[in-house]
Amino acid sequence: MPHTARRHAAGTRRLSEHDPERWEPAFGKDHAQTKNPTLNYRHAFHAGNFADVFKHVLLARVLMHLRAKEAAFRVIDTHAGAGRYDLSASEAARTGEWRHGIGRLLASPPDRETLELLKPYLDCVRTERGANEPGFYPGSPAIALALSRPQDRLIFCELQPDDRQTLATTVDDRRVKVLESDGWAVLKAQLPPPERRGLVFIDPPFEEPGEFQRFEQGLVDAIRRWATGIFMFWHPVKDAHETEAFSRRIARLGIPKILRVELAVRPVRADALNACAILTVNPPWTLEAELARLMPYLARVLGDDNAGRYRIDWLAR
Ligand SMILES: C[S@@+](CC[C@H](N)C(=O)[O-])C[C@H]1O[C@@H](n2cnc3c(N)ncnc32)[C@H](O)[C@@H]1O
Repeated sequence: MPHTARRHAAGTRRLSEHDPERWEPAFGKDHAQTKNPTLNYRHAFHAGNFADVFKHVLLARVLMHLRAKEAAFRVIDTHAGAGRYDLSASEAARTGEWRHGIGRLLASPPDRETLELLKPYLDCVRTERGANEPGFYPGSPAIALALSRPQDRLIFCELQPDDRQTLATTVDDRRVKVLESDGWAVLKAQLPPPERRGLVFIDPPFEEPGEFQRFEQGLVDAIRRWATGIFMFWHPVKDAHETEAFSRRIARLGIPKILRVELAVRPVRADALNACAILTVNPPWTLEAELARLMPYLARVLGDDNAGRYRIDWLAR
């Protein structure tokens, strides 16, 4: 039984049926319509929501671990987005999702030890926020850049032209390359990196079918190229059975050390983003204990009406 640290903040819920690959855009008509369905997604509508807070807290913890050694590391962000987001702009204001994410977090001080773990992330958030609320919110590239050092290198891939343009301006730094590349192809093209230590952060929009399969296929090859790299994969949870089937397939790939953490802020539904998970391959040895401290707080603060749930378990040891 590989699940050694399975936890739920409160009782389990059975979650509704649906095909997680058929993920309807939450704000379809507001998205820029392009011929490529992948590029209909604009993260500006969702920046700072509960899923962003969750993934960015973890991202910051992994980066802090990488910083603990002097040797340079590389970050490859396969689906980078625009880098930072204006929460007062019409997209974020229209959905108001950030109010239930970073808005709640900033209004809910944690205990001292949890705060210590959150601090690198919160420092990035406060820097972007500035003096004028709600200010800006940092995307994964801004967080990765803020937490990297002069010797580190970062690669950000973004296909959506406007977001890529904004990203290039946001992360204009000699350590950074912004690529107009398919993030999945970069898994092959950029691995292994010369530094031999680092993180691949995989955060697709799930706007079209096949993202789960692309991860499964990409991971096997990526691990063959870079067995010691840290890989983080964010995915929505819209059907508990489908999520378990996906997780079982990942567990059977023969790749060791895969830690899963899942957060639900409302009961899972097919037609809404109420829960999501992050798989971390080769997690820092510190991550599981850090999650054990962070997740009860995140589930309590980000959950609606005491509905916050989480679990932490190993898909493979
Ligand atoms: C969920 S958003 C990324 C958010 C970002 N990782 C963050 O945490 O701030 C997904 C992004 O991937 C971009 N995208 C979609 N398909 C892509 C692909 N095949 N390769 C690279 N980027 C892609 C979308 O335009 C979108 O900006």
